[in-house]
Amino acid sequence: MKNNHPKTLLKTAFITGANRGLGMGFVKYLSGQGYLVFAGARNLTSEHADTDSIKWVKIDVCDDMSIDAAVAKISEIVPNIDLLINNAGVSKDSATDNHKELVCNLKDLDRSMLLKMFNVNSISPLIVTQKFLHLLISKPCFVINISSGRGSYQDEYPNPIGNYGYRASKTALNMLTHCSTWDLPENVKTFSVHPGGIKTDMNPGGNDDPSVQAERIVEITQAWKEEYNGKFLRYNGVLYPL
Ligand SMILES: NC(=O)c1ccc[n+]([C@@H]2O[C@H](COP(=O)([O-])OP(=O)(O)OC[C@H]3O[C@@H](n4cnc5c(N)ncnc54)[C@H](OP(=O)(O)O)[C@@H]3O)[C@@H](O)[C@H]2O)c1
Repeated sequence: MKNNHPKTLLKTAFITGANRGLGMGFVKYLSGQGYLVFAGARNLTSEHADTDSIKWVKIDVCDDMSIDAAVAKISEIVPNIDLLINNAGVSKDSATDNHKELVCNLKDLDRSMLLKMFNVNSISPLIVTQKFLHLLISKPCFVINISSGRGSYQDEYPNPIGNYGYRASKTALNMLTHCSTWDLPENVKTFSVHPGGIKTDMNPGGNDDPSVQAERIVEITQAWKEEYNGKFLRYNGVLYPL
């Protein structure tokens, strides 16, 4: 059944990796702003109860059938998505079950682990966007790809190790975002963004709050300039040098 949500005039958002960290920050911020939020998580439990403004959707971003099922579920409820946030990501630690040497030390590099990082962090945002494209019909709507400053050659962080998988997979995400501007319809705007140093499982030492950073990132769409399209930005809307 189509369009069966009672509030289809609400703005709608879909967020991957929404069950914790920055993804949960987007869920909290956007639902508080009156959005109808589709919160994507690869494992749903009894903790993920739907509310009027938050609908949980099972999705593993590396599994095409899982993405298709998520699209089908959302399409039964609303005719379009205004904001698609490709947030799900893996770090050197989470990708390797804390064997970071497999993606950080040249002598220990493991092909399958590196491919896993590229699959989650680079390829999956592109494929999710591809599969959601027919829902991206509002003028304008936005695809936000959550990248990282680690993906920039100008990164200030004094990384003591190679961190090949994470850095290169985010650099690739920045370029894939740029490439997509050739293909996306005129109404679909996109950018990749460094979200800050956010206190999450991925970055326990981070200082930034997930919901505050979510708000800053969404504000970029509200102060949109066409020159942002396809670019890599900081959370404050300033271009991040590549
Ligand atoms: N925190 C920071 O300071 C920081 C800085 C720069 C960039 N970032 C980026 O911000 C994004 C969010 O990071 P975070 O700090 O919130 O990380 P996090 O706490 O580790 O959360 C990562 C999220 O991604 C999900 N995920 C991983 N693989 C997935 C898959 N195959 N399918 C679906 N979901 C998957 C995780 O789901 P599970 O719970 O099922 O594992 C989790 O919800 C990432 O892209 C990260 O690279 C974060």
